[in-house]
Amino acid sequence: MRVIVTKNYDEMSKVAARMIVSQVILKPNSILGLATGSTPIGTYKEIIKSFELGIVDFKEVISFNLDEYLNIEKENSQSYDYFMKENLFNHININKKNTYIPDGMSLDILNECRLYDKKIFEAGGLDIQLLGIGRNGHIGFNEPDIQFEARTHVVELDQQTIKDNARFFDSVDQVPTKAISMGIKTIMHSKKIILLASGKEKADAVFEAVHGLIRPKLPASVLQLHPDVVFIVDEEAGLRLDLKEIY
Ligand code: F6R
Repeated sequence: MRVIVTKNYDEMSKVAARMIVSQVILKPNSILGLATGSTPIGTYKEIIKSFELGIVDFKEVISFNLDEYLNIEKENSQSYDYFMKENLFNHININKKNTYIPDGMSLDILNECRLYDKKIFEAGGLDIQLLGIGRNGHIGFNEPDIQFEARTHVVELDQQTIKDNARFFDSVDQVPTKAISMGIKTIMHSKKIILLASGKEKADAVFEAVHGLIRPKLPASVLQLHPDVVFIVDEEAGLRLDLKEIY
């Protein structure tokens, strides 16, 4: 595991964007795994800047998002589909037909989960997966006590996650309680993984993910087993890390 501690959110975003841009320059038909939430917004802004400067071309890229709420229409501004268009896809030359987000409105949700993994597999597998981290250590919507063997599946959101995500809604009652999420196994199959964290409220989760026991109670701890993972965290999120102990 590599850990990069940056002085602030903007630096974290720049470092992460550079890695993703370089991935696409080296392999123009890269398969990217993408995340939503507040943390990657700065990274997406930096990627857009590189695109506008003509440094990188997304026309052959395929992307798969980590997750989507259940029973929220794509057109709803709270959907992750909407988020991705607003924050990235509308601003780069990716072919929108090649951007996949789990369909939380599917009438056959179990089949949707199965097909999602199949599509990732058929595309050749994820080259790089971008992750945020929940305060409870979740990655994607793999909440504490998840099975590490899980592939894309339906999840019940943790009370902590519902509370944390209420800031994006008018009230906490509007936050969906279920979502489709890539499973830990799907994420761990990615060739490379970048995890981003910013702010002191993430410091405990980051500490446990890096130094803690590998356990389903802290889903991000499984990343210690990945051969090519980098945590890019700002000083506040990295507050409790002991950099001498990381190898
Ligand atoms: C988003 C996702 C979540 C978030 C996490 C952190 O697609 O899967 O795991 O990365 O909840 O969210 P923020 O960045 O809003 O703190």
